[in-house]
Amino acid sequence: IDPTLDLYAEIEKLKQQKNAVILAHYYQEGEIQDIADYIGDSLGLSQQAAKTDADIIVFAGVHFMAETAKILSPTKKVLLPDLKAGCSLADSCPPHLFKKFKESYPDHLVITYVNCTAELKAMSDIVCTSSNAVQIVESLPADQQIIFGPDRNLGAYVAKKTGRDLVLWNGACMVHEIFSREKITKLKERHTNAKILAHPECEEHILQLADYIGSTTGILKYATNDAATEFIVATEAGIIHQMEKDNPTKTFIPAPPNNTCACNDCPHMKRNTLEKLYLCLKNEMPEITLPADIIAKAVKPIERMLDISA
Ligand code: 13P
Ligand code: SF4
Repeated sequence: IDPTLDLYAEIEKLKQQKNAVILAHYYQEGEIQDIADYIGDSLGLSQQAAKTDADIIVFAGVHFMAETAKILSPTKKVLLPDLKAGCSLADSCPPHLFKKFKESYPDHLVITYVNCTAELKAMSDIVCTSSNAVQIVESLPADQQIIFGPDRNLGAYVAKKTGRDLVLWNGACMVHEIFSREKITKLKERHTNAKILAHPECEEHILQLADYIGSTTGILKYATNDAATEFIVATEAGIIHQMEKDNPTKTFIPAPPNNTCACNDCPHMKRNTLEKLYLCLKNEMPEITLPADIIAKAVKPIERMLDISA
């Protein structure tokens, strides 16, 4: 790419020419968030993907998110700036092993967290996100037996909140398991008025410290509406860009990770760059494609989720 090229202007031009929309997750680089038509959490992004009238969806996020957009809008072209932008949580649940796991609980209903492959969604009864997982479990009869996967931390949080006994798949997100309880506690001693905000993908011992637990959108809204002026943020650091933009007078401190990790960035989310986004819109690749039978099966549990969350 010519280094003098104004990527913002070029992306805007291509967007108009091609009737494209850019959907971005809060964990993307700030400059990608700034050019997006919509920024949101996983629920908001799938709602947008389902209702857009654009011909092309550029998904600035990770693979499972772009797949979900394709499942909801199969006639549209869905592009992902870097096909290698995966997810450690989705990887922690290989479909062939989950199939066996499911077979050993034949009377259980399967709820899968949206952070999983399309194949896994095709094996599910209902999909959920971090913002509606509690609501979705509560929408089911109290005696309904449930398998929840792939995130054991979100699953344990939902089980505690709803009082239900969920059978959990043993998966986790590499970013949300790095936080140090000890270091957060010490930080809080120095910032006594700071509120601790955590994503439910964090481990139980971190969630115990939190003043608020929620999805990225929930965390952003809480920080905006709460009277506190300092917040310790226990989730991927990309969200802080939007928190600072919406609240220029407040201070946001990334929750400290344990000694083995340098920062709270998701290496998968951060594979996307403004340059790759420009190239993918220009060349209309890499494109997300899925077998028709997977789309047909996976759309049902996602639509069931969207109906419950409407
Ligand atoms: P939400 O934005 O839905 O809270 O999801 C967080 C996440 O880990 C996405 O990868
Ligand atoms: Fe997956 Fe975790 Fe990265 Fe989200 S933050 S994409 S759950 S690895």
